[in-house]
Amino acid sequence: MTRTLLVTGGGGVGKTTVSAALGVAAARSGIRTLVVTVDPARRLADALGIELQGADPSPLDEEPNLWAAMLDASQSWNTLARTHADPEAADRLVGNPFFAAATSHFPASQSFAAAEEATRFVEGGAWELVVVDTPPSAGGIEFFTAPAEMTALVGGRLLRWLTGGRLPGRRFLFNRTAKPALRIADTVLGSDLLEQIAQFLMDLRTTYDGVAARSREIEARMRTATSIVVTTADPSPIREAVRFYRELPEVATRPAAVVFNRTLPEEWIDARPGRVAAEYAENLRRWGAEAQRQRDLRVEFAGRYRTELTTIPWRPHAPTDLDSLAELVSSAEGFDPVDLLRP
Ligand SMILES: Nc1ncnc2c1ncn2[C@@H]1O[C@H](COP(=O)(O)OP(=O)(O)OP(=O)(O)O)[C@@H](O)[C@H]1O
Ligand SMILES: [Mg+2]
Repeated sequence: MTRTLLVTGGGGVGKTTVSAALGVAAARSGIRTLVVTVDPARRLADALGIELQGADPSPLDEEPNLWAAMLDASQSWNTLARTHADPEAADRLVGNPFFAAATSHFPASQSFAAAEEATRFVEGGAWELVVVDTPPSAGGIEFFTAPAEMTALVGGRLLRWLTGGRLPGRRFLFNRTAKPALRIADTVLGSDLLEQIAQFLMDLRTTYDGVAARSREIEARMRTATSIVVTTADPSPIREAVRFYRELPEVATRPAAVVFNRTLPEEWIDARPGRVAAEYAENLRRWGAEAQRQRDLRVEFAGRYRTELTTIPWRPHAPTDLDSLAELVSSAEGFDPVDLLRP
């Protein structure tokens, strides 16, 4: 059976880096692993051997058990349209500028695409482990509510009202009544804007049953997945991490662990500068105080939310090659994140 590991957390905390690092570590411990990344930095993408646009899973020559893929939300949406709308409506949807706009701007859209694509890879059964990085816009608990939000969008009240309740008869009605009216309005506006919007909503609405069913499948997968929350000791990602423990939606299970990334070394807390210049000593003292603050925060977090906790050190350089990614995981302290990955 394929296991799924969801790497969530606030923006910029290191989700993509940690996903890649866990992928490399798992592969090196003999687990057939796929990492699905979202928008990796150029050098990280190169290290993982993926193109920045729409990369299907490809094996890494230098890492026998590792595959990497790059999430392409628009591609995933096109697949969805082709799967759940009839061919004509799917063609119209994919070609409709509002489809492109909705798929890139609706907040849950990227998360839904990521969850959908991950679910497809898991269903394919080709890997023992699929590590899923989450999009910057929705690395928070929204990732887990995205399927329900998508269903609500496609079957939403606004859409129902605009496109009618039951489809076939209403489509007839739409063609007979709304469409000519929109044409007149468009003539005044000098474009076919309104007609395009209406057509888009109508076509989107026909995917409702399919999207709703798929959302339920995705939610079921997500419920059996293991998730971890990545955070740093900064206030904003901490707030996001806390939400996973306080307001987790019913669709997801509690995260298995919290990863404090970019952690300062604890040795700095009691560092004795010896005979150095006063400015240097002051500098060390400040860093020591920050290391202390970070440790207090972790102790409080672990105590309050009774969770496994691991720290990943702050490296002087962005870890982007395979060895430095693996090293990131082996230098983790506290709970061993690789324990999560074992089948
Ligand atoms: N432990 C670390 N030490 C040093 N640099 C790190 C570490 N972890 C991540 N970084 C760097 O921090 C930056 C942000 O990391 P990353 O892109 O993985 O975050 P993210 O959570 O995926 O961001 P986004 O929310 O935008 O997707 C990158 O430049 C990355 O190389
Ligand atoms: Mg990222």
